[in-house]
Amino acid sequence: MSKTVLSVVGARPNFMKIGPVIAGLRAEGLAAPLLHTGQHYDEAMNGRFFADLGLPRPDVNLEVGSGSHAQQTAEIMRRFEPVLDDIRPDAVLVVGDVNSTIACALVAAKKGTKVVHVEAGLRSYDRAMPEEINRVLTDQLSDFLFTTERGALDNLVREGIDPARVFFTGNVMIDTLLANVARAVPASTMIGLEGGYALVTLHRPSNVDEPDVLARLLGCLARMAEAIPVVLPAHPRTLSRIEAAGLMGMVEAAGIRLLPPQGYLEMLGLMRAAKVVVTDSGGLQEETTALGVPCLTVRENTERPITVTQGTNTLVGIDASAIMAAFGDVLATGGKAGRQPELWDGKAGERIARILAETLVL
Ligand code: UD1
Repeated sequence: MSKTVLSVVGARPNFMKIGPVIAGLRAEGLAAPLLHTGQHYDEAMNGRFFADLGLPRPDVNLEVGSGSHAQQTAEIMRRFEPVLDDIRPDAVLVVGDVNSTIACALVAAKKGTKVVHVEAGLRSYDRAMPEEINRVLTDQLSDFLFTTERGALDNLVREGIDPARVFFTGNVMIDTLLANVARAVPASTMIGLEGGYALVTLHRPSNVDEPDVLARLLGCLARMAEAIPVVLPAHPRTLSRIEAAGLMGMVEAAGIRLLPPQGYLEMLGLMRAAKVVVTDSGGLQEETTALGVPCLTVRENTERPITVTQGTNTLVGIDASAIMAAFGDVLATGGKAGRQPELWDGKAGERIARILAETLVL
């Protein structure tokens, strides 16, 4: 009987990682059901990505919805356990670093089911980020750890993980990007601009939850908008924080173009034509490197250092003068050109599937 690998997704950044893995597993003859925890549920944050990416309809949806970290994680665990008992897969495969990732890895590990982590070993070394806690713990629980950059192995070895469990296979999110870039929706049809604009995304709690920090960052965007158009597709969390902090007037006065969360093909089109991307997202740091578009990351650290050392990314922190200086530099010089990191070549999903098919033992 063929082996079964149960893949898990929950939140937006998971969706663009899972397609190439499932396709690879099925091509290897493995059974590859998909479980959705329901961490993200809005059409704009969820349904649309399944359509855009042609993802298989989830076989199970736990429909957990939003909550505090403890509530959300606990609820996923509680609802995942009976599903695991029912499906009895040979392995549970989780991606990335969201609450769904750690919740399902923990349930599987305690039941003696093998855990596979795709995008293992990334570290910001900042435990104030909820994702960092999810990364460290998921890696500790995993039997197979697939990494996107070679440096991730050093992080894992430092935490006592056996290097024999770690495989450098490349970046599945870039598999998805390369497979879809030709279908990207042109920016001109969405925002009436061919290019020359700044594309901004902000959603990290550390940037949007504190009104002073949010006001400072929006102040930077207002100053950028004096030079070039600024386009801001806003995560629901960001929109509600802007409204709660009474900052919507400032956004409007500055002419910042606020958009709802975008679909995958729309976001690809917006990124590809941007003069610069300003973001606190993990995924956009990698996607801009793959697209060769300069990226300014509004954080003090990154768990994806290869985007800085080899790609187009610059860490600018949250100090207004540093952000504006880096922005001015991109306008003056065109920004970092970068090069493609090793194995970001569209074949990561295949490599992962082959290794699992060869080494998964009952
Ligand atoms: C989660 C991930 C984060 C990722 C982000 C991308 C964790 C710890 N964080 O953060 O790593 O970068 O997704 O989006 O898992 N909401 C909606 N509709 C939805 C989903 C959420 O309106 O479909 C709102 C709710 O008010 C919710 C808030 O967004 O409380 C936050 O959602 P949540 O899933 O808790 O975390 P994210 O901030 O989205």
